[in-house]
Amino acid sequence: MNVSIETILQRKREGHANSSDEIHAFVKGVVDGDISRPQAAAWLAFAFLNGLDFRETVALTRAMVGSGRRLDWNGLSGPFIDKHSTGGVGDKVSLVLAPLWVELGCKVPMISGRGLGFTGGTLDKLESIPGYRCDLDSARLRVVLRDIGCFISGQTGELAPADGILYALRNETSTVPSIPLITASILSKKICEGVEKLVLDVKVGSGAFMKDLPSARRLAESLVKVGNGYGLDTKAVLSDMGQPLGLAVGNAIEVMEAVDCLKGGGPGDLFDLTVRLADHPDALETLRSGAAYERFCAMVAAQGGDVAALSTPTRMMGPVEEWVLEARQSGHVIACDAIGVAKAAFYLGAGRSRAEQSVSPGVGVLLHHKVGDHVEQGEPLAVVYHLDSGLERARKELSKALLVGPELPSPRELVLEEFVS
Ligand code: URA
Repeated sequence: MNVSIETILQRKREGHANSSDEIHAFVKGVVDGDISRPQAAAWLAFAFLNGLDFRETVALTRAMVGSGRRLDWNGLSGPFIDKHSTGGVGDKVSLVLAPLWVELGCKVPMISGRGLGFTGGTLDKLESIPGYRCDLDSARLRVVLRDIGCFISGQTGELAPADGILYALRNETSTVPSIPLITASILSKKICEGVEKLVLDVKVGSGAFMKDLPSARRLAESLVKVGNGYGLDTKAVLSDMGQPLGLAVGNAIEVMEAVDCLKGGGPGDLFDLTVRLADHPDALETLRSGAAYERFCAMVAAQGGDVAALSTPTRMMGPVEEWVLEARQSGHVIACDAIGVAKAAFYLGAGRSRAEQSVSPGVGVLLHHKVGDHVEQGEPLAVVYHLDSGLERARKELSKALLVGPELPSPRELVLEEFVS
């Protein structure tokens, strides 16, 4: 390396910008092992505290893309499109949107992740379908994309390996919620997928990284500017994460809710957000028609999953117990705090705090109401699916998160803003 790690660290520590060469040398050194994990962690902490400007963010994205290979779909016809959410509670949109886009004439090579934190990620959800494989190699990904039009699979070691190392370090060092680091992390993976168009769902609220609109706007702006600057047609939608999306929060129950939506039903907010993100004049009618469900089943089968299990809740969920949270008074649901519901699901075993932990597919929280609904005293507010462990903590968390009162709360928009560069 021409530039020394000491210089790179010192400049960032003192609040100066690193040059593009320094950032490339840093990323290469991290991947090659010439830069130690403590040195990398120190740079992340300095970058977290002192920030990265636009040029540094672009250089970091470029260096992370260059740390591995880029999938290319030569010989297949596009357009190739993907969506990424910055992470929310009950967010199962990807499961619906990928097959919907195929019905609308696109190809969707979706590389997704596991959850780290309160709820499972898209892959954890899909793995509650018996047999579903998230570890397809590039040759198999190509076959599934060619034959079915979409896949949802895990990161292969070849795609942006620098992000794999740096993201794990960020999780261990509390440096995840940094706009430039999130921008480079998300975009490097999406650019490596070989897509032409990217739709970002930037979540805002208690259950999201970005708790308020101004910080969500800054993240959306950063993602859209860097994405477009890279030649990727990128737009962002800012959507509410003050309450969970849909009614199901867990793994298997989220897949089952996604299946309802794929068949043209399911909770209104999940349906509406999926249509909005699809960004296509025929999206509403196509989703309503149920055609995307057949496409989803074909994808599940191509990835080894047992399609018959999708309509057999006991096979998806396994032997779980039920506990019902009832309304103590009549009135309106005035709060259903996303982070509280997520914590409840986490205590039940639906999420993980360390990458090597596994999640329980069948546990979770099935809400019966959204904010603003009227409820009668004694009516179920939510059903908790559990395996005993964690039930007590989950009950406490859920009782705090779900509030019923006399006043009808003022409505909050699901889609708050759109961001196009
Ligand atoms: N998701 C990612 O892939 N990277 C981040 O940095 C945050 C969320």
